[in-house]
Amino acid sequence: MSSSQKLVVLGSINADHILTLEHFPHPGQTLSGRDYQIAFGGKGANQAVAAGRSGADIRFIACVGEDDIGQRMIEQFNKDRIDTQAVSPVQGQSTGVALIFVNAVAENCIGIFAGANACLSTDYVQQHANLIRSSNALLLQLETPLESIIEAAEIAQNSGVKVILNPAPARELPEALLRLVDIITPNETEALSLTGVIIHDEKDAAEAACILHSKGIKTVVITMGSRGVWLSESGQGQLVAGFKVNAVDTIAAGDTFNGAFVTALLEGKTALDAARFANAAAAIAVTRSGGQPSVPWREEIDAFLNAQTAL
Ligand code: RIB
Repeated sequence: MSSSQKLVVLGSINADHILTLEHFPHPGQTLSGRDYQIAFGGKGANQAVAAGRSGADIRFIACVGEDDIGQRMIEQFNKDRIDTQAVSPVQGQSTGVALIFVNAVAENCIGIFAGANACLSTDYVQQHANLIRSSNALLLQLETPLESIIEAAEIAQNSGVKVILNPAPARELPEALLRLVDIITPNETEALSLTGVIIHDEKDAAEAACILHSKGIKTVVITMGSRGVWLSESGQGQLVAGFKVNAVDTIAAGDTFNGAFVTALLEGKTALDAARFANAAAAIAVTRSGGQPSVPWREEIDAFLNAQTAL
């Protein structure tokens, strides 16, 4: 299935250095790990790949370094059905890097070096403004400069393009950005940063969603790990349950959810059906290691959902 509606993703690209440890190191401690790998990642890139593999008509606005890994990533994006005309190498910069520890219970912690991602300037956004204007939806995250994210969201809103913000990683955000957003998709930590509400249960999720609605955001989707997502549309909320799987690591699970969710919305699915589709995509991703290597293709998501229905 593919959509005639167009998606543009604006965001980061990182080379992920991933190491699995029994537990996260304490200050001053050195630990030996296993399964070291360098995988293609970055929240923007992971979401673009998730959209491309799940069938979206997708373009990506991003920056890589002037290095071999950046070039190889662009080649991989093309294989993942992403239009890369707005993915550019930046002279004298290296591609972004993420250093990731995964522990024995599949949690991760991440340190980032922005590299070329820091060069995604407002001028760069303006150079690609037509790509935004000619799309139906713009998907954003927070690993590139905030002023450029706001610039892109303004261009989108002025042209009637839907703005979807995955507010990751967690930080406080100016009202100037929030009022441009149609759909927001925080996890529990990000929802806490934006609303001050600690989310233990569905009641807390509903409270956090109400605060985000009060800022003018129509659709709030709070991702809650294996429990699923709290979907709230203009104040009417419900839990869309997740699927039980054996998690290997959760890197890019949220990104996979976002890319698949927006793809399904652009195909005309309801938010409820899109959330179920995206929960399935994210469930597959956590059974595999790494960022982009774990992102499923459309056929895999459909097969997973069919198998659930047959249960
Ligand atoms: O969301 C996962 C991503 O966060 C990783 O791929 C890493 O690059 C960091 O950006």
